[in-house]
Amino acid sequence: MRKGKGVFKLNKLKGAFVFFAFQNAGNDLVWRKNEMQKCEQLYEGKAKKVFLTDDPDILIVSYKDDATAFNGLKKGTIVGKGAINNRMTNSLFQKIEKEGVPTHFIQELNDRETAVRRVEIVPLEVIVRNVAAGSFSKRLGVEEGTVLAEPTIEFSYKNDELGDPLINSHFAKALKLATAREIEIIEKYAFQVNEILKVEYLKAGLRLIDFKIEFGRFHGKIILADEISPDTCRLWDVESGEKMDKDRFRRDLGGVEDAYIQVAKRLGLEMESK
Ligand code: TMP
Repeated sequence: MRKGKGVFKLNKLKGAFVFFAFQNAGNDLVWRKNEMQKCEQLYEGKAKKVFLTDDPDILIVSYKDDATAFNGLKKGTIVGKGAINNRMTNSLFQKIEKEGVPTHFIQELNDRETAVRRVEIVPLEVIVRNVAAGSFSKRLGVEEGTVLAEPTIEFSYKNDELGDPLINSHFAKALKLATAREIEIIEKYAFQVNEILKVEYLKAGLRLIDFKIEFGRFHGKIILADEISPDTCRLWDVESGEKMDKDRFRRDLGGVEDAYIQVAKRLGLEMESK
């Protein structure tokens, strides 16, 4: 029996994760009970662990409190970050999906873990900027905080050994990292995500300066993957201009945990007490 559009609902947690999934039954689509077993760890990254499940199309991501910067040279812990980034990514991915950009999100399982579609990651860090900051300011000599005439996009080649070098879409095609059609879709989705996020963050009193997203291939289709959190976005308080993101960790500004908690609160995320 083939799964339908993949709408999943978590029922309860008891060893296996129990879902109700929309499935084809003859000519009808019906809700069927689905059990999913968490299996061995597939991969451990800097901020997340990824687990296999007994369904080859589904992975479980588990968000850690570990924080790194400068390609892993600086290491630390941001207490509570894993749970905040999990909730925040899931809430934003659901909003993005509603606006027509497909994502890997299936179902939040608990405060740190989420079931996602298993994708083949396109090895590009896709960065969208509204305001000059960070490496853009440094590379081009533009003062941080300068509003750009229009949103801009750049690609880095996801390769830790090389330190994620900046490339362009022609490099990406020449190196067979993505096809011309995939790049077209990725750029369209990335700018769409920017518009959605700008509105959501502004409602929370935050300016979206820039962000990094990643995409994957799921049965040949490009979908949004990875995360959207204060680790991957620059967010400045609308009133004070205060930095409310991982730059507090990268630049030793202090108040790192408080900034993450503030962002979660302002977005209206329900966090379990630690
Ligand atoms: P940058 O100005 O340092 O290039 O960063 C641009 C955006 O990308 C910023 O919002 C932080 C995010 N980012 C990541 O998510 N991961 C990374 O490894 C880096 C370098 C930046």
